[in-house]
Amino acid sequence: MTDLIPRPRAVRTTPGSFTLAARSAVAGPADLADPVRLALAVLDLRHDPSCGDGPQGSPEGRGAAISVRRDTALGAESYTLDVRAGGVEIAAGDAAGALYAAQTLRQLLPAEAFRSVAPPGARWAVPFVHVADAPRFPWRGAHLDISRHFMPKREVLRMIDLLALHKLNRLHLHLADDQGWRVESRAYPLLHEVGSHRARTTTTPFRQEGEPSFDETPHGGHLTLADLSEIAGYARARAVTIVPEIDVPGHASAILAAYPHLSADPGVRHAVLDRWGISPAILSPLPPTVEFLTTVFTEIIDALGPVPYFHLGGDECVLDAWAASDEIGDYRRSLGLDTPADLHAWFLRRLADVLAGLGSRAVVWDEAFVSGMLRPDTVVMPWRGMEVGRRAAAAGHDVVATPVFPLYFDYAEAASPEEPVAMGDAVTVDDVAAFEPAPASWTAGEAGHVLGAQFQLWTERIPDGRALDYRAWPRGCALAHVTWSGAGEGFAGALPAHLARLDAYGVEYRPPAGPRPWQRGGTGARRHRPGAVTVSEAMRHLEGLTREADSTRPSIG
Ligand code: ACM
Repeated sequence: MTDLIPRPRAVRTTPGSFTLAARSAVAGPADLADPVRLALAVLDLRHDPSCGDGPQGSPEGRGAAISVRRDTALGAESYTLDVRAGGVEIAAGDAAGALYAAQTLRQLLPAEAFRSVAPPGARWAVPFVHVADAPRFPWRGAHLDISRHFMPKREVLRMIDLLALHKLNRLHLHLADDQGWRVESRAYPLLHEVGSHRARTTTTPFRQEGEPSFDETPHGGHLTLADLSEIAGYARARAVTIVPEIDVPGHASAILAAYPHLSADPGVRHAVLDRWGISPAILSPLPPTVEFLTTVFTEIIDALGPVPYFHLGGDECVLDAWAASDEIGDYRRSLGLDTPADLHAWFLRRLADVLAGLGSRAVVWDEAFVSGMLRPDTVVMPWRGMEVGRRAAAAGHDVVATPVFPLYFDYAEAASPEEPVAMGDAVTVDDVAAFEPAPASWTAGEAGHVLGAQFQLWTERIPDGRALDYRAWPRGCALAHVTWSGAGEGFAGALPAHLARLDAYGVEYRPPAGPRPWQRGGTGARRHRPGAVTVSEAMRHLEGLTREADSTRPSIG
């Protein structure tokens, strides 16, 4: 009972057990019974309508192995779970609470319960227990970059399943960057027809001098709007909110390859980038760009359904083309703005207003906060360290902790030549488990603005789903523990039992002792260069940049 991840708030065991078998019945209202059946699909549970919607212990609920009821006194995502001689009783504040109660129940079963189908005749003894549980933070998430390497729909759906299994509830999808535009547009079809593929990809390690090398292999793919709708529905059923990101006004090469007239420097021919790093390609901030983005945002929001949060990027913008353009300079002055940095801030605020009109709250990377003109309701993601996050919270913004250390999972778990190629090193599972999204040194007011935290899976060096599994888990388990239960305590002891669950599920996680032979980097294209980039050096650099209020050009990302 001590091996639950994330650890529930309160667990009390008593002697005895109840036997749960496949095809058992779940009683209770359909909107709460459905998530229970989903989380325990391995048991192929039946919703027994004859069991009705009665309160716990009522005659209607009798006979069902599991009964679930609504308890409005419990908050969002909260639940109680009781296993007694008469069966399993769940009380939940909402559908998410019912889902999470069932996820906890699944962890009370043998690891076999994490297969997709139970062994024939499985009958599992569930120990008598009372669990009372609620999350520490409302934003518990993962960021997945499907631009640098496209992750097809099946990988996105699988990620949603794994998030829900860990009671994580946000999937931030990075849908557009210099190296690829990844979603259909009916209004601007060249975005996916031209912007979604590149002829080749660099194989040069970060910071290696000399001529770059390339794999000479085309790469591409995009989600259709129908895929996006499906992903949103799949996520909603699993209490996961999709947070789409269209990163603007920088990181714009793929957009400009498709629609060059939107460029701040229309004389330059842009292509979908075949190498990493920061590009000078930047959208024009003039009204036609805002009109274009309004249309694209509307298409994405219509496909996803309600979109409470929409990420605008705003990071790593090279403003030289804005400074060099007479037309953009005139426009800036007409708005009464002094510098291109002010215009960057104004542009993102204008887009946040557009999103507000579409029912979405804007989210930005911290550069957009540093420029100081955000809508008050804009959520800030401090990737360049927690200090800028504290400043954003002190200014009244809600904050989701995303610092490179320890939440950039494209960094290797160890500074070892055995690791597969990574951005740098190292972010260990212990580093993540010790992370505090609302540091004790912050005032209560600042800490009160912390919505939670999420890990980042940038995919320059994550080419496919197998590499994604390796980088995401078990560090993602540690972040689930931190955001649901609080930092540290109990995680390390619980991990071995949890890894057996992931084994049964089929997750190719990174074993605590290091990669399996076929997960190693080797000496070929996946060779890692330990020490070439250290995460502490990167953090020092990035934190230095945020101290310069008008800094817009970090060089590591
Ligand atoms: C980032 O890593 N550029 C947000």
